[in-house]
Amino acid sequence: MMSQFYFTLTNPEVEPLLKKEMSIGYPNFRLSYSRPGFLTFKAENATNFSPWMCRLSGICLGKKKLEELLGLSKAWLWKRVDSLVPASELVELSDKSLFRIGEKVTLIMMLGPDDYWLGEYILKKTHFQTPGEVSSIEKNDEAPSRAYYKIAEAFEAFDLPMESQEKVLELGSAPGGASLFLLEQDLQVFGVDPAEMDPRILKKYNFRHIKKAFETLNENNFREDIDWIVSDVNLPPSVVIQEVDRFLTFLEPRGVILTLKLHQDRYLRMLKPIVESYKQKGFTQVELKYLPSYRQEICLVALR
Ligand SMILES: C[S@@+](CC[C@H](N)C(=O)[O-])C[C@H]1O[C@@H](n2cnc3c(N)ncnc32)[C@H](O)[C@@H]1O
Repeated sequence: MMSQFYFTLTNPEVEPLLKKEMSIGYPNFRLSYSRPGFLTFKAENATNFSPWMCRLSGICLGKKKLEELLGLSKAWLWKRVDSLVPASELVELSDKSLFRIGEKVTLIMMLGPDDYWLGEYILKKTHFQTPGEVSSIEKNDEAPSRAYYKIAEAFEAFDLPMESQEKVLELGSAPGGASLFLLEQDLQVFGVDPAEMDPRILKKYNFRHIKKAFETLNENNFREDIDWIVSDVNLPPSVVIQEVDRFLTFLEPRGVILTLKLHQDRYLRMLKPIVESYKQKGFTQVELKYLPSYRQEICLVALR
């Protein structure tokens, strides 16, 4: 069988973790050409390729000359760094190209001046409809933390069916970036965190701060039904999962959205069993996604 090349677009801070994931999950893949944020791999036997620790992955068709790209009828263009100036024809082509869910996207990846690479991937429902899976969330100057963008991206990618005035138990809520986004969606937020919340969040009508560590809460702390559990607690995934599992013995949320911190390589091996355990708990859609605003972390979404 012919060898095949694959590409990944990722955030530079998570590249070591992606390489570790490749060595565990794709042992027959060899690192080939790479630049910060862009890594290619070669495999002798083509197989499904969908690593977690990257924004995007697909088949790599190699480096191309501009003349070869000008013949494309439809393609998106991604730039590795914002300061790059691509050929205007490619910008026009990308601007007018639309892709449907399930369609094969042709992606031109500009790595440096006149340095174009071509890739292909199938557009999934959970993909952002942007070249290179860059965040489509607009900057919010009021956001107390980066977590505003993280939950906004999860909301968009998974089209989370959150409804007005539903109740969210937010674990690790300080200083309040995610709370702000959830409050903007007209949700009621119970923020659990021993740390201080941003005073602007504390003033919001639909926010209640439970200033405690999540381990100290039990069913007696909940008089109301909780519709969603969101976590961004900066503790190992094993601790977060254990505590959320405990909450699931007395709460029945419609969905769970966890940002799991992967500060050690060994946490990678926990991800598959975690996905399986959520499926066994009766969640019908359970997915992992690396969001554009992420560093060494991954989003687990489990919906009933
Ligand atoms: C990444 S920050 C959360 C950012 C926050 N979600 C936001 O939107 O601004 C992690 C938070 O987890 C909190 N945390 C750590 N251990 C905790 C625990 N045992 N119970 C609750 N929160 C905890 C920390 O105090 C910290 O505020």
